[in-house]
Amino acid sequence: MNQFKIVGIALTSFILMFSQAGLADGRTELSGPGEAEVIAGTGYTHTLFDSADNKCQHCHNDLYDTWKTSMHAKSWKDPIFQSKYQDFLRLQASKIGAVGPTGTYQEGTIQKTAQVCIKCHAPTAYYSGDFKITLTEVGDQNVDPDAFEDARALQTNLAPAYNPDLEATVSSMAQSGKVYTVSYHVGNKHNREGINCAYCHSIETVRMMNDVDGDLGQYTLAKPMKMGPIGPLVHNAGDTLHYSPDASTHDMNAFFALIGPEKYADVSNTPKDAAGFDIAKAADGRYTMKSIPVGCDGTDADGNPADCHYTGGPFYGPFGITGVSNSRDDDVTDRASLVKGDFQAAVDADHGDKFESRHQFAAYGKALCLSCHQRSSLMLNPETNGIPGLQPGDDQFLELCSTWTAMSDGVGNNFEDSKTSPKCQQCHMEPLANKTVLHKWDDPDSLFTAKDGVTEHFDPASGVGPVAEGYLNNHAFMGANKADFGLTKIKTGFESGMEVKADDDKLKVKTYLQNKTAHMFPGAHPMRRVLTRVVVTDANGNKLSFKKAKGKSRFKSVTNQLAVLEGNTILPGHETVKVKYDDDRKIVIQGYTADLSSKKEPVNSQFMDGTLVEWVSPDATVTGSTAVETAPGVWAVKGVTTVKKITDIEGAADHFTRIYGRETGKRMADGTHVVRPGFDSNIATDNRLKPNEKEKYTVVYDIEDAVFPLTVKYKVYYMKKGASGKFPTAADGFLNTSLPAETLKKLAIYEVFSAEEKVVDDD
Ligand code: HEC
Ligand code: HEC
Ligand code: HEC
Ligand code: HEC
Ligand code: HEC
Repeated sequence: MNQFKIVGIALTSFILMFSQAGLADGRTELSGPGEAEVIAGTGYTHTLFDSADNKCQHCHNDLYDTWKTSMHAKSWKDPIFQSKYQDFLRLQASKIGAVGPTGTYQEGTIQKTAQVCIKCHAPTAYYSGDFKITLTEVGDQNVDPDAFEDARALQTNLAPAYNPDLEATVSSMAQSGKVYTVSYHVGNKHNREGINCAYCHSIETVRMMNDVDGDLGQYTLAKPMKMGPIGPLVHNAGDTLHYSPDASTHDMNAFFALIGPEKYADVSNTPKDAAGFDIAKAADGRYTMKSIPVGCDGTDADGNPADCHYTGGPFYGPFGITGVSNSRDDDVTDRASLVKGDFQAAVDADHGDKFESRHQFAAYGKALCLSCHQRSSLMLNPETNGIPGLQPGDDQFLELCSTWTAMSDGVGNNFEDSKTSPKCQQCHMEPLANKTVLHKWDDPDSLFTAKDGVTEHFDPASGVGPVAEGYLNNHAFMGANKADFGLTKIKTGFESGMEVKADDDKLKVKTYLQNKTAHMFPGAHPMRRVLTRVVVTDANGNKLSFKKAKGKSRFKSVTNQLAVLEGNTILPGHETVKVKYDDDRKIVIQGYTADLSSKKEPVNSQFMDGTLVEWVSPDATVTGSTAVETAPGVWAVKGVTTVKKITDIEGAADHFTRIYGRETGKRMADGTHVVRPGFDSNIATDNRLKPNEKEKYTVVYDIEDAVFPLTVKYKVYYMKKGASGKFPTAADGFLNTSLPAETLKKLAIYEVFSAEEKVVDDD
């Protein structure tokens, strides 16, 4: 099948016009006529989705610029993701031949498991079925003692230098001693764009389980749920999961273990009720994707073979859209024909307001994000103690990105904007004042007007739309991965401070750290950690040992100050978001252990364990690994790794440290706990700050015999890859910043707050 429709129209003049208007950094021109046009198809190298680069950017130019900088635009090529994905494939290949309660891990099983990550990280590839995964047996350790070692040389295109255009290959070994390579590639350029415009904006109905729409909180499983491909059965096909506003209930936890956006067995035929909500689903799903109109399955209205063209819209947005024709001749699709009648009706009749329509992003914004950002793994968590009301055997899957759990108040829901749990968009999609949502493709200086057929929302003269209001919703989705790290988003996620008091014999250093987000801090991915440290030095530069420390925790309403990248301006009146604290809320998180109560109590300085342990796993977090025969004919890849657990026992007293993080990993019978975020996730402990939480510490020093003046320093670090357990300390007690730049970059530890006071002797 031809991927691109070549339309025989001379386009030179258009392209010329475009060049004259100038292209902002990162924007690209079409390299030839027809490149905008897509013939929809599924399978390797095909796509069902339009390209942000080839299409959307040309009319939604400013929006595109903000999206292009986002992690959504990099979710597939992101080197951190790719390195973990490659490890995941090594791990899966090592399981081939393993026998579990519900079967044997076959060679073909990896075809399925390899898609787990692409569901969220390259969702258009998943929906388009554009994914090639090749397993090759390349040797046998029983026959050739160098087989495993030799296979390493076959690895290509490894992260972090991963190039998404090319196939990548990793190697691994199974218990049987068979040595394998696994190769993978997403074939169509559109599908390598990550979470692109067409993906989010093709979501017709976000149908995260709730109790007001569609199946009214009753979610019946089409397939049995197992703990991984060969693990124990957790639910039978036909079992019904029930909605609860308490995100931590067993059923909700299981719902989120569906690992992200699901694909309907028959995408072109998802049955809808009158209001447009999907019913009688052929397969489990978190939302309805836009159904493919007649023609895409190979036939036109008359039953003749036909190409299905995809266009740059109309797509689903907050307002609902009309079928404005394209201003471009090589874009031949009839946009109007793609607008769903029921969608349009829902907007105009029952839900005229953008904040009411249930189909739309504005009203169901939270659910849209949570469809990927709330996730439990398929590993049962043996340590789900601490969850009230949990019956024996009613174990939970381990929560990974548990953003809703971490902000649900147990009384609201997972889609509506509320005072205690504001919707994600309020903080993560700031309305920008100095941008244009839409302009004409071939005439970038002009806006579409009512004469062109746009709705009032987009008519500059109407005074109601985002164009008229002059704002767009920032699509940069800032987080720890922004290039100007620390200057923007992360710093708005917390508040911190230090106060120093000294008398004749005692020095009291008081610090606080407060969560200013609407979810746990640090948020989302379990590899994030935050570390705070106090160091007191005397006039000779010697570090003083603290005598004791006390801490307490309080909750109160907060106001989040939004952040944007340089050059952007938030629409006045939208710069802050309040997160109200409700005394009655109950946020229940697996493994959560409150470290402090509301009364002052003694606390210890914390550190990351760091002990070296032998570990069996083919992934790259285990170093120096070799093939080891553990019993005749039974092989394992063995190496060493460090225990990265946050340890709360008395350590060195010359600094006072607190570390906040969510730990996932594996605990062995001897209590050894190895943190590997997202892998072997059978443990969760969590000491992050809950929403609205403020922790205060008082660290006390004896200074009777101290050599004055004293220097008191306090710093807060954000550790993007903190679960690597590394925090190299310099002589001054803080992060060793004299390490080579390359090492520091790899560590990804950033100072985000610093305070310093001098204490002089009054006498
Ligand atoms: C030829 C110019 C053009 C291109 C290319 C284009 N759009 Fe649009 N888009 C429009 C127009 C015009 C509107 C407003 C329609 C209306 O007023 O109903 C619009 C509206 C939208 C809306 C609706 C916003 C809302 O508030 O409801 C979304 C979402 C959207 N486009 C997404 C996309 C995506 C995704 C792409 C790329 C796949 C794309 N557009 C490419 C012209 C374009
Ligand atoms: C249900 C959707 C979903 C699935 C399935 C999923 N992820 Fe993610 N992943 C996310 C989200 C959402 C984030 C962003 C969280 C954040 O950055 O805090 C993320 C972030 C990550 C990150 C951090 C990237 C960075 O640059 O900091 C890594 C690594 C990662 N995922 C690996 C994987 C691997 C490996 C798999 C498959 C085993 C996987 N993910 C499957 C949703 C998913
Ligand atoms: C992660 C999902 C996601 C991705 C990816 C995404 N959008 Fe959006 N988009 C949204 C949401 C959510 C809103 C509505 C925000 C609101 O009103 O609360 C929105 C709003 C819009 C609007 C309406 C105007 C506005 O600014 O609110 C347009 C047009 C639009 N998006 C186009 C695009 C284009 C073009 C791209 C790619 C360059 C894109 N979107 C990528 C989720 C997404
Ligand atoms: C199709 C799945 C999907 C949807 C829908 C989605 N996200 Fe994401 N999001 C991801 C993944 C995957 C990543 C991480 C990419 C990476 O780092 O490799 C991510 C990254 C992010 C980040 C940046 C994290 C960082 O490391 O800098 C933020 C913030 C974010 N998303 C917020 C949102 C919000 C808000 C919405 C709803 C409007 C949303 N996302 C919808 C999958 C999704
Ligand atoms: C009151 C404002 C606010 C609301 C509401 C909010 N967030 Fe955040 N979020 C932040 C801030 C500030 C940060 C940066 C600090 C941090 O990483 O914890 C953040 C961090 C994140 C990150 C981590 C980025 C990273 O680099 O790992 C993700 C992912 C995320 N939020 C997703 C969401 C989702 C999904 C929702 C809705 C369910 C949401 N947020 C609601 C303020 C908010």
